[in-house]
Amino acid sequence: MKNTLIAPSVLAADFANLQRDVQMINNSEADWFHIDIMDGVFVPNISFGMPVLEAIAKHAKKTIDVHLMIVEPDRYIKTFAALGANILTVHYEACTHLHRTLQAIKAEGMKAGVALNPHTNIALLEDVINDIDLVCVMSVNPGFGGQSFIENTYEKVEKLKELIIRKKARTLIEIDGGVTDKNAKALAQSGADVLVAGSFVFKADNPTQTIADLKKTAGI
Ligand code: DX5
Ligand code: ZN
Repeated sequence: MKNTLIAPSVLAADFANLQRDVQMINNSEADWFHIDIMDGVFVPNISFGMPVLEAIAKHAKKTIDVHLMIVEPDRYIKTFAALGANILTVHYEACTHLHRTLQAIKAEGMKAGVALNPHTNIALLEDVINDIDLVCVMSVNPGFGGQSFIENTYEKVEKLKELIIRKKARTLIEIDGGVTDKNAKALAQSGADVLVAGSFVFKADNPTQTIADLKKTAGI
């Protein structure tokens, strides 16, 4: 059975009860913390920044997966490493010298991720796929939680899986946006390794149980 990883997105947590929500993730079947950093320039929204990540990292007992939705991410690679990020994902669309950025992330001891906006073609990663630890396929336009899933994502995941196999890369495929119990299984079957879920987890009556159910549904 394939162990599909579940990464709750803290963006949907209750920030007035952040420690409680971090502990909930620690004590659940979730695999990673997904942390969305938005700058109000790359995306039309501002989420939270370094002090909040520092507070989360102090209590988090699982892998910290940071998704940077910011322009010029190179400026902050060292900062995010120092704050405790284990995986640092930058947007393809925000990087002029993506290969250099990936090497800089790895030089700080983190895994290097690349996120693709819904309009960005998988084929653009062909020459760099062997340098990428994780591709985050955006299944909504980045910037907000609670949006609906773009159905074209399955096709992108299949293309990406094919590229990874063809290039003998060891890249993980992460899906971010609009993930629910309705699409989790099909995403895993298409080749997804990690599912990010924000509102579906935190708007549920019982987030811990919802994470367990999602993990089970996505285990194929
Ligand atoms: C969107 C963020 C996502 C978001 C997902 O820009 O990158 O991680 O938190 O939220 P849901 O699961 O509610 O779509
Ligand atoms: Zn995200």
